[in-house]
Amino acid sequence: MSRIAYIDGRYQPLTWPGIQVEDRGYQFSDGVYEVVRLRDGNLLDEERHLDRLDYSLQELSIGQPMSRPALKLVMREVLRRNRLQNAILYIQVSRGVAPREHSFEESLKPVLVMTVRPLSASKREAIHRDGIEVISVPDQRWARCDIKSISLLPNILARQKARDAKVQEAWQIDEQGMVTEGAATNAWIVDSGGFLRTRPARGEILNGIVRQVLLQCAEQAGLKLKQEAFSLDEAKAAKEAFSTASTMAVFPVVSIDGVKIGNGKPGDIAQKLAAAYERVNETS
Ligand SMILES: Cc1ncc(COP(=O)(O)O)c(C=O)c1O
Repeated sequence: MSRIAYIDGRYQPLTWPGIQVEDRGYQFSDGVYEVVRLRDGNLLDEERHLDRLDYSLQELSIGQPMSRPALKLVMREVLRRNRLQNAILYIQVSRGVAPREHSFEESLKPVLVMTVRPLSASKREAIHRDGIEVISVPDQRWARCDIKSISLLPNILARQKARDAKVQEAWQIDEQGMVTEGAATNAWIVDSGGFLRTRPARGEILNGIVRQVLLQCAEQAGLKLKQEAFSLDEAKAAKEAFSTASTMAVFPVVSIDGVKIGNGKPGDIAQKLAAAYERVNETS
């Protein structure tokens, strides 16, 4: 069955043309996005994702494509038409269509696109069981990584370097030698003193939805917790390391630049937090 996408007002096969050449998302990466996981028919952390979408739009002075209730209806309709229960829903809003010129009119009509793809349960299980390997790369991004912009060139180049190195993720390192975040994940460690650490959410990182939920879980579980940047050296000497993102929730990290983390297996805290995350979404 061909997948169905929502493209600027129409439900249509994904492969049909729909986007105009002068869409500013296409020509300038002038747009924002969200990735929401569907688990057994339920959209996880939906309100948090839609709040962050609003934030990204506001920060870039891009209009709202539609009201929140209407957006939720479209999300459900795309999922219904694709008959999926476990999937990843991609939502993109570009600033709109206009003759190519860097500056923009605030009155442009935003273009909304949604696509969906199945989420493989076996891949999730393998990642939770075996963990992932990570390399470090210089962080070459701009100062507003808190905005979930579709402008992702440094992120895709970082992820490609990981792929070339036959590992799954790249952690980005700032000029002070501190870890910012992964190419498409937030970075965490349990440091040598037993503190769970992740960088504070300012302009250098995206305030991940899984990050936000896990901070609450960690507090509730009474874990020693610090929102504080950590260096690449501290990460390599950590008891545990892991990445987080909506696609898989928690990705235990078993090595960084070939250096084994802890005993080289997914750590206890990463596994406990992964289980806690799934529970939060069962009760919400
Ligand atoms: C750069 C970056 N950091 C962090 C994340 C994790 O965010 P979330 O937990 O909202 O999926 C993502 C997800 O796409 C990302 O692209």
